[in-house]
Amino acid sequence: MSQLTSDAFVFFGATGDLARKKIFPALQAMVKRGELDIPVICVARAEWSLDQLRTCVRESLVQNGGIDEIAFARLSELLRYIDGDYRNPATYEGLKRVLGEAQRPLYYLAIPPSMFAAVVEGLGSSKGIVGARVIVEKPYGRDLASALALNQTLHSVFDESAVFRIDHYLGKEAVQNLLYFRFANAFLDPLWNRDYVENIQITMAENFGVQGRGAFYDEVGTLRDVVQNHLLQVIALLAMDAPLGRDADSMRAEKLRLFRAMRPLDPVDVVRGQFQGYREEVGVAAGSEVETFVALRLHIDTWRWSGVPFYIRAGKFLPITATEVVVHLKCPPLDIFDETSAATSNYFRFRLSPEVVISAGVRVKEPGDGMRGQPVELVAWRQSHADKAPYERLLYDAIHGDPSLFTGDASVEAAWRVIDPVLTHVGSISRYARGSWGPADAASIFPGGWHNPVAEEAPPC
Ligand code: BG6
Repeated sequence: MSQLTSDAFVFFGATGDLARKKIFPALQAMVKRGELDIPVICVARAEWSLDQLRTCVRESLVQNGGIDEIAFARLSELLRYIDGDYRNPATYEGLKRVLGEAQRPLYYLAIPPSMFAAVVEGLGSSKGIVGARVIVEKPYGRDLASALALNQTLHSVFDESAVFRIDHYLGKEAVQNLLYFRFANAFLDPLWNRDYVENIQITMAENFGVQGRGAFYDEVGTLRDVVQNHLLQVIALLAMDAPLGRDADSMRAEKLRLFRAMRPLDPVDVVRGQFQGYREEVGVAAGSEVETFVALRLHIDTWRWSGVPFYIRAGKFLPITATEVVVHLKCPPLDIFDETSAATSNYFRFRLSPEVVISAGVRVKEPGDGMRGQPVELVAWRQSHADKAPYERLLYDAIHGDPSLFTGDASVEAAWRVIDPVLTHVGSISRYARGSWGPADAASIFPGGWHNPVAEEAPPC
C-alpha cells in the first residue's frame, strides 16, 4: 500500500438514499475489480447491528444494479458498524476504537448540511485527523455565505489538500471525454472561441420528478441541485483554456480562472418553472415557489468567449432523460447556396448521458443537379454505457489521494458567486405541464431556439 493510500473508509450517512442507490453498488464494483480492500466503517444512528447493515447493503445492491455474491461476501467482511449520534463525543471515541491501527482514514460525509459542522468538529476533537482525508458530498452550502462558512468549518480541522469535494458529474466518462476531446485534437482549438462559436447550450433533461425526495428538493431547487455544481462544471470543461501541466493543481487552476470569469447571473437572464403537481409531492410546502426547471443565459468574460452566450436548461418531468451539449458554430460568411436551413448544421454535439456521443453536424451536397444540401452527422464516438460508474472512479481516486476530479474551495465559492444574485432575486415562477419542455417563457432566454435532445438511435450493426 503506498503512502498516499487511505487505510480505512469511514462512511457517515450510510443509511441514506445516496448510499443505497450509488455508494454500496460502487463499493461492490470496486471490491469486484480488486480496488477495495480496506475496512468500510459505517456510522449511523439507526440502532442497527452489523448484520442489519449487511442486510441493508444486500437489499440496496439487489435493487440497484444487482448483487455479485462473491464480491458481496468480500464487501461484507470489510463492513463495520458504529451506532451513534453525530453530536455525541462517544460516537467518535467508538470510531477511534474501530479504526484501531488505521493511520490514514478517508472520511466520507454524505450527510445533511445541518449535521456537517457537528461531524467535522467531532472528528477534529477525536484527533483522528492526522493523515486523514475527507470527502464532502453536495449540496455544498446553499449560497455563497454558507459555502464560505462550510469551508471555514472544514479548514478548522482539515487542510484544504485533504478535502475532496465530490461532484459525481466529474466522474462521468462523457464529461472526462469533453476535456480529452478538446485538448487531444489540434483541429478544434482554432475554432473554439468567439470568432467561430455562435453559442453553446446544455440541456439536462429528466423525465421523472423528485422521486420521493420532495423535502430535500424543496430546500434546494434546480439552480442549487444541478446548475451551481454539475452544469457549471461542464461549462468550465467546455470553456477553460488548456492547463499548463498534467498535474491536478494545473487543471484546477485553469478551471478556477474560468469560474472566476463567469459573470454573476442577472435575474433577467433566468426563467424558472415548476411542474404541475409539484406542490402535492410529499415533503413539499403547499405554496412552494421552488423551481423544478430553469433556463438561463450565462456570459463568460474572457478574451476567448466575450460575447458568446452560454445557455443552460435543466428540469424535472421533461420529455426525456438526457444531458446534451451543443456547440453551434457561426454560419459561413456568405450564403452562396441560398439555403435557409443551413443554420441547423455547423455544430458539435456532446451527449453526456445516458449514452456517450461525440459528433459534428455538417452539410453535404444532395446528389443531383442543384446545389442543395442535406445535414449529416459525423459520429466520432458512441458508447451506450460507461465501464465505471462515476462514484467508483471518484471513490477510488479519493482513496489514492488524487484530487484531479474534485473541486477546490475557491472554485466552489466562485460558482456560488455566479448563482447568488438569482437566489436572492428569485423573480416569478411559471408552471409547466409534465412531459413538456418547461414553461413557454423559457424560449425568451434563447431566441435562436433550444435544441431538444431526442432518443439516441442505435448504431447500425
Ligand atoms: C443529483 C441531483 O446530483 O444528480 C438529482 O441531486 C439528479 O436531482 C442527479 O437527478 C442526476 O445525476 P445523473 O448522474 O443521474 O445524471
